[in-house]
Amino acid sequence: MRESVRELDVRHVPPPQRHSEIFSTFNALKPGEAFILVNDHDPKPLLYQFQAEHPGAFEWSLLEAGPERFRIEIRRRTGGKSRNVTEYLEQDHRRLDAIVPEVVQLADSGSLAEAATRFAEFACGLNRHIDAEENVLFPAFEKITGMAAGPTTVMRAEHVEIRRWMGIGAAALDARDAAAAKRAFSGLTEVLSVHNMKEEQILYPMTDQAAGGERERDDLVRRMQAL
Ligand SMILES: [Fe+2]
Ligand SMILES: [Fe+2]
Repeated sequence: MRESVRELDVRHVPPPQRHSEIFSTFNALKPGEAFILVNDHDPKPLLYQFQAEHPGAFEWSLLEAGPERFRIEIRRRTGGKSRNVTEYLEQDHRRLDAIVPEVVQLADSGSLAEAATRFAEFACGLNRHIDAEENVLFPAFEKITGMAAGPTTVMRAEHVEIRRWMGIGAAALDARDAAAAKRAFSGLTEVLSVHNMKEEQILYPMTDQAAGGERERDDLVRRMQAL
């Protein structure tokens, strides 16, 4: 069952007051708690301000990426200030893994419009996760390990397959075809679980090991978060 998370819609708040309202909402969160920020643009300057003022203290997960409305889940972390690539990307795998059963449950209960909305949030997050891997993590891995045509080639090919299943799932939900959607989710889950395991057991730890130090690892995480 999805946790109930407060939405803070700042679209009608005068811009000079927005950041203070957002930070006071964040400051009131207990570790592990979240709120959803609703805005009319991609609030990158806000993310940079969070990174500067609350380093490593939050997760920033895009649920909806415009063009008119942006929704971001901002969660207070329970861990320390800096973290490595493995911790950062594993938590995103777990966050995304938890959404698929919610979508299946909604589809099973006949709430196909809600299932489609939740699946769109999943796809937004997974597309962003894949973009962060392909544009930040894999090039860093290839540079620091010297392995330009090895594990990352396999992972990129699997991303194509993962995106293909996501497209089939979204089309089935759009067509309100619950049976086809469930077949797509099981295909997607099968590919994704093996893919994630390989990343978590091989690619992420190798990147952390080869990255140099805490500062280099933290820098990679910040760049992926800001993508
Ligand atoms: Fe991946
Ligand atoms: Fe991944």
